[in-house]
Amino acid sequence: MKFGYFDDLRKEYVINTPRTPYPWINYLGNQGFFSLISNTAGGYSFYMDARLRRITRYRYNNVPLDMGGRYFYINDNGTIWNPGWSPVKTELDEYECRHGMGYTIIKGKKNGLKAEVTFFVPQNYDGEVQQVVLTNEGTEAKSFSIFSIAEWCLWDAQDDCTNFQRNFSTGRVEIEGSTIYHVTEYRDRRNHYAFYTVNDEIDGYDTDRDSFLGSIYNGWDNPETVKADKPSNSFADGWSPVASHYKKVTLAPGESKTLIYILGYAENPQDKKFASEKPANLLTRETWVLNKEKAYAMIDKYNTPEKVAAGLEELRTTWDKLLSIFKVDTPDDKVNRMVNIWNQYQCMVTFNLSRSASYFESGIGRGMGFRDSNQDILGFVHQIPERARERLIDIASTQLSDGGCYHQYQPLTKKGNADIGGDFSDDPLWMILSVAAYIKETGDWGILDANVPFDDDPDGKHTMLEHLDVSFYHIVNNLGPHGLPLAMRADWNDCINLSCFSDTPGESFQTYTNPKFKAEGGYSKVAESAFVAALFTYTGPAYVGILEHLGKADEAAKAQAEIDKMKKNTMESAFDGDWFIRAYDANGEKMGSKECEEGKIFIEPQGFAVMSEIGKDVGADIKTLNSIDKYLNCEFGLVLNNPAYTKYYIQYGEISTYPGGYKENAGIFTHNNAWIICAEAYAGRGDKAFEYYSKIAPAFTEETSDIHKTEPYVYGQMIGGKDAKNFGQGKNSWLTGTAAWNMVAISQYILGVKPEFDGLRVDPSIPAAWDGFTATRQFRGDTYEITIKNPDHVNKGVKSLTVDGAAVDGCIVPVAGDGKTHKVEVVLG
Ligand code: GLC
Ligand code: GLC
Repeated sequence: MKFGYFDDLRKEYVINTPRTPYPWINYLGNQGFFSLISNTAGGYSFYMDARLRRITRYRYNNVPLDMGGRYFYINDNGTIWNPGWSPVKTELDEYECRHGMGYTIIKGKKNGLKAEVTFFVPQNYDGEVQQVVLTNEGTEAKSFSIFSIAEWCLWDAQDDCTNFQRNFSTGRVEIEGSTIYHVTEYRDRRNHYAFYTVNDEIDGYDTDRDSFLGSIYNGWDNPETVKADKPSNSFADGWSPVASHYKKVTLAPGESKTLIYILGYAENPQDKKFASEKPANLLTRETWVLNKEKAYAMIDKYNTPEKVAAGLEELRTTWDKLLSIFKVDTPDDKVNRMVNIWNQYQCMVTFNLSRSASYFESGIGRGMGFRDSNQDILGFVHQIPERARERLIDIASTQLSDGGCYHQYQPLTKKGNADIGGDFSDDPLWMILSVAAYIKETGDWGILDANVPFDDDPDGKHTMLEHLDVSFYHIVNNLGPHGLPLAMRADWNDCINLSCFSDTPGESFQTYTNPKFKAEGGYSKVAESAFVAALFTYTGPAYVGILEHLGKADEAAKAQAEIDKMKKNTMESAFDGDWFIRAYDANGEKMGSKECEEGKIFIEPQGFAVMSEIGKDVGADIKTLNSIDKYLNCEFGLVLNNPAYTKYYIQYGEISTYPGGYKENAGIFTHNNAWIICAEAYAGRGDKAFEYYSKIAPAFTEETSDIHKTEPYVYGQMIGGKDAKNFGQGKNSWLTGTAAWNMVAISQYILGVKPEFDGLRVDPSIPAAWDGFTATRQFRGDTYEITIKNPDHVNKGVKSLTVDGAAVDGCIVPVAGDGKTHKVEVVLG
């Protein structure tokens, strides 16, 4: 069952009922100001950091689920409705929500009155513009009123939802004409404020939530002022400040009126915080006056429909440009839709927000993840490499000089998060991968010389190359009894905690220090991760390639020897006959082995082991891939492990705390499905790669949206596995490494267009049924128009490759570097 459809021409997903199986959201904003918006206009806004600079309030896990956002209420002679249906939920005559690239349009119609609201955050602008177009489609004149509402968050979202004994007494506002300013804590320790304005005279307002609602017993679905068609002109003094504008409108038949609302954020320099004069019309209870210069300028920027149209056009051209860097035309519309539009769009969102703020991430839990943000770069780097570079330097600056790193940092402060700490065994490796991806994309070897401090040596002069050195050797210097990397607090799988296991409720599986291992530095020196071993052998060659390029032959050979040794150790101690084991636990017992009662096979190490060709000479790669197909493959994707754990295995940490089929206990973790898609494509099995891809790529699950539940245009982190009661049900949509990795899987492994240090590799691994496809790739200043022909209907194998008609050996297109368009023709066979 579907709840909408793709409008590929406009790059939109069109939702045609407000009753989606879960709130289906979009993200507005690309630089500093961000908003989440659902198909019923729920959601919230923040500046830079969803925890430390929350602008509007949102109550997570609410009942009903998606309650609170920026709402417009229309009172049409007693009929009260919202253009997005919620919160009043009056049945609409027409409803539509279009989620596009950085904007959302919600249209509602009732009794001949149409309201079309366009929400967007313009480029390089710290505010959300909401353009409301009201049209009388009836045959008689109509008089009605419109109320807006936004509820302020008192800045720190964590404090806002916990510290009521203080917060109910700090809320403050100023009102000037049609603009309501939120100035809580501005007098003392803050230099930032927010405002909500409309480009017209208003007929009333409210700034105190309970006055707007009329009673503490009312909810957003039942505001007294809207029912009475009478704002209370309240002035907030503590409690919960809000911003609501009231406007009366009369429209002749066929007539339209446009109102432009702006929800903005601004910061003042310390010495310009206050205005010297108090305007006559200013409402305040303070003796000081907010300096509003910045707000005035922001309001002026988008206060007419023409200016709004120009802002929208700028956003459209920005996205058209971003999406023209890599474009494909394959025989499958769903692939085209994912690659050309939605997967790339999601990569921008994950790049911007890591795992901080979604409808499953509260924005107060996690900031930017070290491993997460590094992986996000893999899918994003071709879009805006300069931003990737900046991010890489930010991330690397939270690393410690021994190669360890803070697992997360706050985007506002860019400081490592001490509550979470470090010692996640995989973290440093992802940085090698992301820096290499950046160099492969751009050819900017200069990043290696960039000055990047270590967290524990903030003033020292260190280069990015040093960060890669210590990353690589952090693994080499922390090996266990089998010569495999120590598992530490967790590896990629946050829920395999071979050192931090505990039997006390509430203790964190990732940060708890088991007294057993305290003296050894906090984690077991016996527990080893075969996953990190495989990730090391997959990632290591990029590091070697960098050293070779720099002419450091000795260091390159030394690093290569470590990789070879790790491959040998992995084959000797971690190959279980038909697949690779997952780990050795702190007792030295195998995890993810035939010998285990449950959890005999895990997905994570397999793909990287296959792509590192560990044991390829004895057929370990194909055996491994076949085992995955046999034990992990099911209708909706590949489960993480099998059989699911049905008992609590304390020595494994968090994993067996989940019921079978969910999350890391045999859920379909789409992130690591991508690694198998890559591995199947790598091994030349394009049909299998595509089968797995099409099981999880959202455009392919659109038809089963009623089962899948989450948005059919973006990946979610997890789908209920075959052991789950809710088999096939998606969760944790939007912020997941799946976005970047599936972008890599489809573009670089299946379609096979892959940047390398010395050129653009074109080596597809596609369904045999395909006759071929075409692609356009902008790369290092040139444009490559690529045609793939598959006359023999094979999966993989470049028979010939020509660039502008001239034959090239192998499958790497050398960098032309002339800024021109080049024709690349590849015949498979
Ligand atoms: C709050 C605190 C209390 C403190 C008082 C005055 O009531 O709970 O500990 O004494 O404020 O600051
Ligand atoms: C979540 C985390 C990611 C982790 C994964 C597996 O997606 O964001 O860092 O690798 O779970 O546990």
